[in-house]
Amino acid sequence: DRLPALLAAMPKAELHMHIEGSLEPEMAFALAARHGIALPYADSAALRRAYAFGDLQSFLDLYYQGAAVLRTEQDFYELARAYLARAATENVVHAEIFFDPQTHTARGVPMATVIRGLARAGDEARRERGISSALILCFLRHLSEREAFETLEQALPFRDAFIGVGLDSSERGHPPEKFARVFARCRELDLHIVAHAGEEGPPAYIWAALDVLKAERIDHGVQAVHDAALMQRLARERVPLTVCPLSNQKLQVFPDLARHSLPQLLAGGLCATVNSDDPAYFGGYVNANFQALFAATGLDAQAAWQLAANSFEASFVDASAKQRWL
Ligand code: HPA
Ligand code: ZN
Repeated sequence: DRLPALLAAMPKAELHMHIEGSLEPEMAFALAARHGIALPYADSAALRRAYAFGDLQSFLDLYYQGAAVLRTEQDFYELARAYLARAATENVVHAEIFFDPQTHTARGVPMATVIRGLARAGDEARRERGISSALILCFLRHLSEREAFETLEQALPFRDAFIGVGLDSSERGHPPEKFARVFARCRELDLHIVAHAGEEGPPAYIWAALDVLKAERIDHGVQAVHDAALMQRLARERVPLTVCPLSNQKLQVFPDLARHSLPQLLAGGLCATVNSDDPAYFGGYVNANFQALFAATGLDAQAAWQLAANSFEASFVDASAKQRWL
């Protein structure tokens, strides 16, 4: 079977990964030692064993705890450098990378420290590995719109270092409408708009991400299959969905990867893509996501080609770069 080799070798863009979610347990322990922080686990193997999640919130609790070892510009640089090196080996030629500044500014880490470290790794990887990348600032939806506005204000001195904004963290109970005004402001600033919606939350949150936030892409969106009118709209408007199979499996969004909705999304003509979300926590980088999904669902080489083409279509690179990759 040559499908796994094709999935690994094909050039692709990765559009849904949180840089804090690429913090491997080994790096967490190294950074903890660097800063004299005690982690409540014996070693990296014990930390990895704790990665057994029942739902999104049980993951987020560990994810925010892990991020606490990130303190200095060098830490953020090394984190992003490691992800980009790995992505390049998986034939990711372009990555759009989420970061969660509120996780860090709440601990007293300056916005400048976060953005400068991440941006430096992106510049270096472009020069040294030929992989292009861009940053997308995510607002934490369990916090207030006021705090999102404050975060945007802190980030504006670095406006050129990120291309867009997103919305992540605990979905249920925090609908897109809560952030209507801050996303309106972001649109005035010509930032690209994306939002997590329909991961655990209902199709109504996908409608609101589109109609209220004016999201250009939906992150996850896998619950769209429960709403036929929404499926038709997403297909007609070619609104991309950045789907993360191993994340959905680990957070028990589907009972089994074999029952994942991605084949239905493709069959419905939607612009679905495959991504890793939080690769250090969910058991694999982007190629492992492709391979697990294809093994479980029986998708074929035609679907592989479609998903790779979709990833470039869905990216925010300019039209000439898209042409080159498509
Ligand atoms: N969903 C919501 N918030 C997140 C995720 C996710 O998949 N990953 C990191 N933060
Ligand atoms: Zn995500």
